Amino acid sequence: MTIVASASDSASKLAACFSKHRAPPAVMVIFGAAGDLTKRLVVPALYNLTRAGMLPEEFVIIGVDHGSRTTEIWLQGLSEMLRAFAQSGGSGAKLDEQAWSWLTQRMQYLQGEFGEAETFQRLKALMAEQSARIHTENALFYLAVADRFFGPLVEKLGGAGLANQTDRGWRRVVVEKPFGHDFASAKALNAQILKVLSENQVYRIDHFLGKETVQNIMVLRFANGIFEPLWTRDHIDHVQITAAETVGVERRGGFYDRTGALRDMVPNHLFQLLAMIAMEPPVSFDADAVRAKKTELFQAIHTIAPNDAVRGQYGSGIVLGQQVQDYRHAPNVAPDSGTETYVALRIGIDNWRWAGVPIYIRTGKCLTARTTEIAVHFRQAPYALFRDTPVDQLPANILTLRIQPDEGLSISFSAKRPGPEIEIDGVAMDFAYRDYFEPIVAVGYETLIYDCLLGDPTLFQRADTVEAAWRPLQGLLDAWASQPPKDFPNYAAGSAGPPAADALLARDRRAWLPIQGIHTHSAIRPSAERRSTSR
Ligand code: BG6
Repeated sequence: MTIVASASDSASKLAACFSKHRAPPAVMVIFGAAGDLTKRLVVPALYNLTRAGMLPEEFVIIGVDHGSRTTEIWLQGLSEMLRAFAQSGGSGAKLDEQAWSWLTQRMQYLQGEFGEAETFQRLKALMAEQSARIHTENALFYLAVADRFFGPLVEKLGGAGLANQTDRGWRRVVVEKPFGHDFASAKALNAQILKVLSENQVYRIDHFLGKETVQNIMVLRFANGIFEPLWTRDHIDHVQITAAETVGVERRGGFYDRTGALRDMVPNHLFQLLAMIAMEPPVSFDADAVRAKKTELFQAIHTIAPNDAVRGQYGSGIVLGQQVQDYRHAPNVAPDSGTETYVALRIGIDNWRWAGVPIYIRTGKCLTARTTEIAVHFRQAPYALFRDTPVDQLPANILTLRIQPDEGLSISFSAKRPGPEIEIDGVAMDFAYRDYFEPIVAVGYETLIYDCLLGDPTLFQRADTVEAAWRPLQGLLDAWASQPPKDFPNYAAGSAGPPAADALLARDRRAWLPIQGIHTHSAIRPSAERRSTSR
C-alpha cells in the first residue's frame, strides 16, 4: 500500500492507499443489517470505499435482518446515521450525496429469521436475480451478528447451496469476533464452519488489523535495517503493550458481562499486536507466510498462570472530568458481577528470540486516558563509566509505537545536559503520522472489506491461529471461573487500574509507563529529571 502525497482530498487519499484497482463484481450479503456494527462500521466503510472509487459498478448489497422494514426505511436509518457521522468529522465535513446515492442504489433489504431455512431460499432467489443482472456469481457473506449465530448461519448457507464456489464465482464468509469464548468453543466453531466451507473461504476478522499503525509494525521492523538486529533477548529487556480505554461498557452490558476484558480484548486484539511485534520475519507478504509466523508465535507462548495475571473491575470515579458510575450499575450488568473490566498479564514466549523477556500486557475500561501503544524497553547500558559522575542511573531506551489515538513512534535515549559536569537527560526523537501524511478518513474496516473482495486473507485469522491464541489462556479462564474475585470493584474509574497490576511489575523490579492519551514528551522529561539528579 502506498500513500500518495499529491492526493487532493480524503477520498482520493483513501483510493491511493489501495492498489488502484476496483474490487471485482460481487453480491455482498450483510446478516445483521439493522445492527450496530453494520451502522457504525460496515456501511460507513462501504461508503468510504465508494468515495474512493474502489467498489465495482457491478455491486449489490443485500441486508438481511429479522425486523420487518422496507428497503426505504432501512436506508433512511442508515442515511441519518451517516449524515451525523459525516458532520462529526468521521467521514469528511458533510455527506457526499453522490457517493451515498451510488451506494444506496445498490442496496436492498430482505426480512428473514436467521434460523429459518425459508429465509435462505428467498435469499437464494434474490441473489440469483441480482447475480444474473450484474453478471457475476461472486458473493461475500458478512456475519455482523451475535456470535451464537455464526455456526448456524454458515450451516444454513451450506444447506441452501449458497456456499458452493464454482468457476463462475467465489463464495466467502466474514466472521466477526468473538470467535469462540474459550479454546474448546473456538475449536468447535472452526469444526462446524469448516464442514461447510474450506479455509480459504473464511475471513475471521480482527479490526485491529485494519488499523494503519498496526500494519505499519511489519514495515517498521522489516523494512528498516536498524531495528531487527536489536530485536532479540540480547538487547530487549521487556515489552509493555497497553490498550487503555476511557469508555465503560455503555449499552453493551449484556454482552460484556458474560465476556469480560480477557476474552473481549486479549486473544484477539492484544495478541495481534503481540504477533506483529514478536513474530519471526515471514518470507513474503503472502497470507499463509504471515499467518504461519503468527501461529508459531502463539504456539510458543507459555500457559499463563494465575499469579502472572491481575483482574480488575471499575468502581465509580471521574473519567475525563465526568462522574462515572461503577460497572455494577451499568445497564444489563449483574449487581454483584464478578466480570473483569481490566486485565494485566505477564507473558513468556518460549523461543530463541524471546525466552526470558517478559511481555506485559494490560487493557481496561474507564481508565485515565485512551491510548493503545507498544513500548519496547531495551536493556540498560553498563553503568561503570558513570560511577564517578553525578549520574546515578541511566535512563532506559524505549521505543514506543503509538497505535492510537496519537499515531506515531518515539525513541527515548540519553543525552548529555550542556554544562561542565557529566549530567544526563532522557530525551526523545518523535515521529507523528500527521507530520508526514495527510490524515485519511476511514473507520478501519475499509481495507478489511476490500481485501475480502479481492480474496487477500493476510489480515484475517486462520483456524489454527485462533485456536493457538486461546490455548495459553485456557488455564487462566478456568482458574478465574472457579475462584470468583473477592475484591471487586478494585479500581476507581479514571485511574490507571488496580494496584495489583503495579505489583505485578514491581515483583520484577519494573514499572508500567504512565497511561497518557496525547504525547507531549512530558512522559520523558520528569523521569529524566529524576534520573539525572546529581549526587
Ligand atoms: C472491540 C471490543 O472489539 O474493540 C470493545 O469488543 C473495545 O470492548 C473495542 O472497546 C476497542 O476497539 P478500538 O478500535 O476502539 O480500540
